Amino acid sequence: MQAREEATAMPDCGVIRVAMTAAAEAYDVHVGADVLDRLPAMLRQAAPAFRYAVISDDHVAHLYGSELIRCLREDSLTVDLFTFPSGEANKTRETWSALTDAILGAGVGRDACIIGLGGGVTGDVAGFVAATYMRGIPVVHVPTSLLAMLDASVGGKTGVDVDAGKNLVGAFIQPRVVLADTTVLRTLSDSDFRAGLAEAVKHGFIADLRHLEWIERHGRDILERDPGHLVELVRTSVAIKAAIVTEDPFEIGRRATLNFGHTIGHALERVSRYSIPHGYAVAAGMVVECRIGEILGVSAPDTASRLLAVLYSLGIPVMLPDVVDDVVEATRSDKKGRASSVRYALVARPGQGARTGAGGWTFEVQPEVVRTALRAALVALSQENTGV
Ligand SMILES: NC(=O)c1ccc[n+]([C@@H]2O[C@H](COP(=O)([O-])OP(=O)(O)OC[C@H]3O[C@@H](n4cnc5c(N)ncnc54)[C@H](O)[C@@H]3O)[C@@H](O)[C@H]2O)c1
Ligand SMILES: [Zn+2]
Repeated sequence: MQAREEATAMPDCGVIRVAMTAAAEAYDVHVGADVLDRLPAMLRQAAPAFRYAVISDDHVAHLYGSELIRCLREDSLTVDLFTFPSGEANKTRETWSALTDAILGAGVGRDACIIGLGGGVTGDVAGFVAATYMRGIPVVHVPTSLLAMLDASVGGKTGVDVDAGKNLVGAFIQPRVVLADTTVLRTLSDSDFRAGLAEAVKHGFIADLRHLEWIERHGRDILERDPGHLVELVRTSVAIKAAIVTEDPFEIGRRATLNFGHTIGHALERVSRYSIPHGYAVAAGMVVECRIGEILGVSAPDTASRLLAVLYSLGIPVMLPDVVDDVVEATRSDKKGRASSVRYALVARPGQGARTGAGGWTFEVQPEVVRTALRAALVALSQENTGV
């Protein structure tokens, strides 16, 4: 990766340890600018393998694939690149099987390691290929979108979307190491950049008021993609997510807070046939789920208005299609629903996830409450848009 010309002071590559309960599963997330050339050394140390299979979507492969391959080959590592068409619409079993067949066809054996180079879609697909390839081989993530750097590459969730819903087929597989080189974010579209910011706002809302306030204060530097601010943003979000998944790797308790905004968000993705990007769907989902919390008396009043303010200040659009019943219906097949009830991760106030009286992290919410919240959010948004 080429060095940026800005003279901003750049912190060195920082490391966040994702401890996990089993020592074998602990791994490091390295975040820094211009650090991609450290990958070969990291692979030798954390994921030694006879052969490496890089999985990337065609867009990212075009931008960074050959550079990565050259970097690994210069270090005498054996590596091949496998690509698939970019986009959420391709996060499918078909892509998983086509990649798996291609890697099998290339004669890659059990002594190999998968490297996911790309956004969250690539990470989810690459991780799922690794989890199932010859019953499981190691995976390393090299996230290239903001969303993948600060959220998707950490925590070990992988999978694909199916007709019945998003991420409904998949596996947990923790990566051996994660390397996030924030320099590559310079080529990310504004839309994808803002989508990633939505997950950073989520981290602030569910767990860390100081992170939220930092984002609120530094919005302009973040949007200008100032290198130092990007590194700081990604590191803090990763540290927040790492702490949560370390405590609860398989989502028995607190990890559910990371689903804040996602029950509605996944439904919005589905009803829009994945035309609303994940980050934007989560943004709108958080707004609706704040309203749900306010209606139930779980979230402090004005939680939704603070969320809207920070989303607008970062230029994150809140896209809420006016199809209330379809959205409610789509929430029913989200995997967060247990039996026939649909459960929501809510916030008590900005910076703090909400607990139930029994100490749980999710709330059963009746469809009528969801409808009311959706309608209230639609009204609030239309007033914003018409300047009322
Ligand atoms: N596993 C998890 O824990 C987890 C967490 C959050 C989100 N996700 C998943 O992540 C996905 C969303 O991730 P996403 O927003 O990164 O989507 P994405 O992977 O589709 O990337 C968005 C777009 O950005 C492009 N891109 C990526 N890096 C680039 C770069 N450096 N320069 C230019 N273009 C670049 C990609 O080619 C793609 O077109 C969703 O499927 C979501 O479910 C998973
Ligand atoms: Zn998400």
